[in-house]
Amino acid sequence: MNRGLYIHLPFCKQKCNYCDFSSFAGQEQYIDAYLDALAHEAALYKGLECNMLYVGGGTPSLLAEHQLRKLDKIIRKNFCPIANFTESTFEANPESLTLSKAALLHEMGFDRLSMGLQSFNDAELKILGRIHTAERFLQSYQAAREAGFKNINVDLIAGLPTQTLDSFLGGLQRLIELHPEHISVYGLQIEEGTPFFKQGIVCDQNLMRSMLEETHNRLVEMGYEHYEISNYALPGRRAQHNTNYWQNGEYLGLGSAAASYRNGVRRQNTSSVAEYIECMESGKTPIAFSEQLTGKAKEGETLMLAFRQLEGVELTPRQIALFGSEIEKHIQNGLLTRTQKKVKLSKEGLYLANEVMRSFVAPFEEL
Ligand SMILES: C[S@@+](CC[C@H](N)C(=O)[O-])C[C@H]1O[C@@H](n2cnc3c(N)ncnc32)[C@H](O)[C@@H]1O
Ligand code: SF4
Repeated sequence: MNRGLYIHLPFCKQKCNYCDFSSFAGQEQYIDAYLDALAHEAALYKGLECNMLYVGGGTPSLLAEHQLRKLDKIIRKNFCPIANFTESTFEANPESLTLSKAALLHEMGFDRLSMGLQSFNDAELKILGRIHTAERFLQSYQAAREAGFKNINVDLIAGLPTQTLDSFLGGLQRLIELHPEHISVYGLQIEEGTPFFKQGIVCDQNLMRSMLEETHNRLVEMGYEHYEISNYALPGRRAQHNTNYWQNGEYLGLGSAAASYRNGVRRQNTSSVAEYIECMESGKTPIAFSEQLTGKAKEGETLMLAFRQLEGVELTPRQIALFGSEIEKHIQNGLLTRTQKKVKLSKEGLYLANEVMRSFVAPFEEL
């Protein structure tokens, strides 16, 4: 059985204006105590077999080199050497990924980097609240290659304030020329509570759709496989950790706000860094939420994740019994389409996926 190991590092130099991930600026003084807490939590699962590793954030690359070595020790001592995972991804931000850090990560055994670029346009980066320029990204990307990374993902966001189709496509073209093995392109989501939300920023959905459609055309033409709503990979370079998640596989999450899914139970740790550290120091559980998914909710969750994958779903008789009529309506409305054995998002459904996914989340409504 496949099982992922996710480690959350919630520290950022500055909070971006669109981001509602569990990440905090100005808390670097807690990183050492946080790593001690991680060591305690990891020890609770010592020996649990995990075959894929993903260290995400936040900004994991903000850690100093001695802190990265500490992280290496925690993983090796409780699970296995990083090089033994079938895939081991480390999330890095351009401003904090130096050549010596990239070399250390490579030496530690990481074989994949995921880099947040978001935009190739400095004015757009500034509006996003990013603290790097396009040039700084290029330097860190080259450093990653120089350090030996042969599998790199780069994230872009489409639909940014002031962004035009030309500026977006210009950036995409520059990225294509770097030949990253994997590219994620997300449509901007205005999340409640973020500065963008408070400023009342609204996305031009038609423009964003043109950007995403053109992304598909250009990347497919360049040999990338569009395998998940927002994800493209060169052959053999699909993200294994994320694919396991979309296939409803098990994963263990360590750290504040980290989610786990094991034995049908979904859990999430407290998102407060201070509380997480305090819990681990005093031997209390950091788990803030836990639920056992059963029946229709469990089947709905499986379908919601599975339909994100463009190859579609081979429906089981039970899934047809529970969701057949909803699925049929989405087929009639043109959001889902039937292939020989499977049902998958249609071209239209790709951009209106939330409409489809809503059918699989409780409370279940008849369409
Ligand atoms: C875990 S996040 C952050 C990774 C890394 N700290 C960074 O900023 O580069 C992963 C990706 O989600 C995307 N993302 C985050 N918030 C988003 C939003 N509100 N709308 C669209 N994409 C978003 C960004 O592309 C980001 O790189
Ligand atoms: S987008 Fe990345 S760098 Fe920006 S606040 Fe979120 S996690 Fe931190």
